[in-house]
Amino acid sequence: MRENLTPPVAPWATDRPAILGEGPRGALLMFVGEQPGDEEDRKGRPFVGPAGRLLDRALEEAGVDRKACYVTNAVKHFKYVMRGKRRLHQSPDAGDIKLYRPFLLQEVESVAPHLMVALGATATHALMGKKLPLLKLRGQVFEGPGDRPVLITVHPSFLLRLPNPELKEAEYARFVQELAFAGQAAKQGHAP
Ligand code: URA
Repeated sequence: MRENLTPPVAPWATDRPAILGEGPRGALLMFVGEQPGDEEDRKGRPFVGPAGRLLDRALEEAGVDRKACYVTNAVKHFKYVMRGKRRLHQSPDAGDIKLYRPFLLQEVESVAPHLMVALGATATHALMGKKLPLLKLRGQVFEGPGDRPVLITVHPSFLLRLPNPELKEAEYARFVQELAFAGQAAKQGHAP
């Protein structure tokens, strides 16, 4: 689905297009990330860079078909600073989350998913309307916008950044389990 509504534009994003969510209206499962990265900005699609590739692998292992899901971001523009020739990711701040939130909530209403998965702290903040302790709440389901359930989990780039291989493997396995749970819960029409 491509939204007809016009997304907001942060003052730092006036020179680049919004990267909108994709997937079918009526998708049972909706994934919300932080913001498009460099590769997403260049390709015009959400989650097609390194974090997206990890998400794709985890979804496949979890038995969840990405094409049947709606995939979007809390913030619809890539926020970065230049370091030489490289565009380095900058996390969105609370003001950015607030600016884009009404658009995200409209997406939630028009997709009407059975379950949303908040990938990381920014998505959790945007969906739940406040900053929450991500690692404490990880793996739990809360009532989110439109009384729809939200499963909180980590962002795939958190997994990419973990330096310890054993920890990385364990955290990735936990992520796959959470995605499998989300896939099942969304099919059942509610989150237990
Ligand atoms: N990280 C996100 O949160 N979203 C993307 O689309 C890509 C990377």
